[in-house]
Amino acid sequence: MNKSKLLALSITLGNLGICFLSNAQSFLKTHPSINPYHYQVVKEASFSKGAVTSAHPLASMVGAAIMQEGGNAFDAAIATQFSLAVVFPGAGNIGGGGFMLARKTNGELIGIDYREAAPGKATRDMYLDENGNPIKSMSLDGASASGIPGSVAGMIATHAYAKLSLAALIEPAIEFAEYGFVITEREAKGLNAEKANFLKNSSAPSAFTKKEWKAGDTLYQPELAATLKRIQQKGLAGFYEGETADYIVNEMKHSAGIISKEDLKNYRPKFRKPIEFDYRGHHVISFAPPSSGGIIIAQMLKMIQPYNVEKMGLNTEASVSLMVEAQRRAYADRAEHMGDPDYWKVPTDTLISDGYAKERMKDYQPGVVGSSKITKAGLVHESEQTTHFSVIDAEGNMVAITTTLNDTYGNKTIVAGAGFLLNNEMDDFSVKPGVPNMYGALGGEANSIVPGKRMLSSMTPTLVTLNGKPYISIGTPGGTTIPNQVYEGLVNIIDHKMSLKEAIDAPRFHHQWIPDQVGVETDFPEETMNALKANGYTIIRRGRFGRMDGVQILQDGKRNAVGDKRGDDSVAGY
Ligand code: GLY
Repeated sequence: MNKSKLLALSITLGNLGICFLSNAQSFLKTHPSINPYHYQVVKEASFSKGAVTSAHPLASMVGAAIMQEGGNAFDAAIATQFSLAVVFPGAGNIGGGGFMLARKTNGELIGIDYREAAPGKATRDMYLDENGNPIKSMSLDGASASGIPGSVAGMIATHAYAKLSLAALIEPAIEFAEYGFVITEREAKGLNAEKANFLKNSSAPSAFTKKEWKAGDTLYQPELAATLKRIQQKGLAGFYEGETADYIVNEMKHSAGIISKEDLKNYRPKFRKPIEFDYRGHHVISFAPPSSGGIIIAQMLKMIQPYNVEKMGLNTEASVSLMVEAQRRAYADRAEHMGDPDYWKVPTDTLISDGYAKERMKDYQPGVVGSSKITKAGLVHESEQTTHFSVIDAEGNMVAITTTLNDTYGNKTIVAGAGFLLNNEMDDFSVKPGVPNMYGALGGEANSIVPGKRMLSSMTPTLVTLNGKPYISIGTPGGTTIPNQVYEGLVNIIDHKMSLKEAIDAPRFHHQWIPDQVGVETDFPEETMNALKANGYTIIRRGRFGRMDGVQILQDGKRNAVGDKRGDDSVAGY
């Protein structure tokens, strides 16, 4: 077994292990194979019934166990999301938001938008100083950066499609928080790197700031366990009202936050009609605004459909320049045309139409490098740290969820008394038209701040059917790189006929219109990079981006689950 993939093997069950074994209601007691002090990362496996892939092995194992004992993909997704909020605090969350996309075996599509919303006291220029310049720290650090959290409401809305009790689905998360779990090296580094920020941005020290962490240490989160118990007992009111709401509103005072009790009580998830389109015989289903993801991947795939990408080859100068020129055009449209559809008329039908894709590529000439000074948004008449997980159950129900605090560990504020991190999603609004956000993305009026409005997202949970049957559930974190990663992943599978693992592990590239440059991963082929440079592209070698997780149904009906090599992502199933 690969040593680097083994976690905490030297850790033995101590007193705490004995403690959890004595809890009468214990999930862990009845699931001895899920050991929070001793687990391992599994990157790829095929299962005959149900499969889950997520950013953390414990969360994936919980999802699989829930299905094994009678839950469906929705049950598994809810249990996985709550578990991630404990075992993957950088992005798994109850203080953030996300999008749940599902296709039931009967073909019914469900899109639940539980994106954060701007608080009632938010104003258009709230992040500008007296000279009209953005105060970056205000939209990124501390309570002032938080939108109203949507994740708990989103999971409770999702529960309408589940089979088991909500209490049973939250229980594993409570036990991970209460009895602790061993942390990975990646998590230890992340927590240590942010310790000073956690202390600065929060009103009190927290479970995360107790020590200098190392791989194999056990993280206990008693305040978070108590919050999860309140949700378990009272449902929505356990988070959006009462004690938890008091803790959130109190935390606001530390750093000019504006979320009120009324904001919390009034928060509602929204159902969104998914984006659907065909690409080379495959039916692709993705998320609608306030995510920009579904529209962008529809646009880009349609723009490249007339070309023989397979013949051009994977990551060659020909295929990359074609795909980059499609990225340039779609991201220009993102900046101009996309925002919360309840506040801005997003011309979705036009943007994803075949005719519009053709029109946008009219000035494309193979071998000629485009320019973002010349390419603007199309004329139309009439959305880096996040986490994704995918589930397919034994019946063929598919769920894809991407959820986020925005930046890693959100705004670095741990709600005192409640033990969870808050998002800094307000930075995803266009703080000032023409001024880039954390991801360097531009936006305009379509994505301006209005109370109650949801900020534009790039999250792209995506499902694919083939011949009318469930086929793939896929998605990834990575801010504005998300739609490009999903686009490239689908091209790898559909055009280049790669296995899911090959498609996910392949080197990635990213262009988002402005800045006019192509970011490439460290293992992107040197030869292609040099050819693109010689043609006039500005190429930036950057670290790895994204952690794409997916499940694909193979021809023999097996569920092939893959966790991205780029993280601790891990699969489970039965
Ligand atoms: N916060 C990243 C996104 O929603 O796109």
